[in-house]
Amino acid sequence: MATQVFNIVILISGRGSNLRSLIDNAKSYRIGAVLSDKPDATGLDHARYAGIPAFGFQRSQYSSLLEHKLAIYREIEKKPYDLIVLAGFMQILENEFVQKHRGKIVNIHPSLLPEYKGLNTHRRVLNAFIQSAGKKNTHGCTVHYVHSAIDSGPIIAQAPCAIEPKDSEAQLADRVLQQEHRLFPWVIDKIAIQNIQYQSGTVAIDQQTISEGRSLGFKIGVT
Ligand code: GRF
Repeated sequence: MATQVFNIVILISGRGSNLRSLIDNAKSYRIGAVLSDKPDATGLDHARYAGIPAFGFQRSQYSSLLEHKLAIYREIEKKPYDLIVLAGFMQILENEFVQKHRGKIVNIHPSLLPEYKGLNTHRRVLNAFIQSAGKKNTHGCTVHYVHSAIDSGPIIAQAPCAIEPKDSEAQLADRVLQQEHRLFPWVIDKIAIQNIQYQSGTVAIDQQTISEGRSLGFKIGVT
């Protein structure tokens, strides 16, 4: 009996290093398409190189930002994807779209949520490190299901990393990114095999997956 493929669509806006990691580390999921609100996003080249259908949506071709985003939503909804993966997608999703796909959208964010929602997380984390005289010395990334408010929704897993006293913003960002590249494919894979599930607004994770994640240095099912 043929096993059912877990089909995902990935949304990006830029360089696509997380997309690259999702391509390279795919075990139990298949990337059906990659969409970008920026047709010149380098990430689209990674997708095309890997033979994945890739589509860029040029803002100037639409009468408004809303029309631009609606075109992307229509493309997503043409096919029955099992999961919508935001990998550096820099647009805010419409509430209606999020509600319609509740439990089927995941995002990666470069901080240990709920701390440091929004942009420029590395700079803000470094400032807090300095102001706390080195006491606030942990940073990291979070994969979470997407609810309507920005960078909110049930946290699935986090990958922490240390802040070093001599870190520049770029060095810290790079250390966090290395963690993102480990965490994201691992989580998507576990969702694909249903070891991680969205259940009535919360995350359900089986014990073996929790243990495996912890052995990899991840924080699992943080509430
Ligand atoms: C990552 O830091 C991710 O956490 C954030 O946007 C960035 C995307 O980087 N949401 P890349 O395009 O995957 O390299």
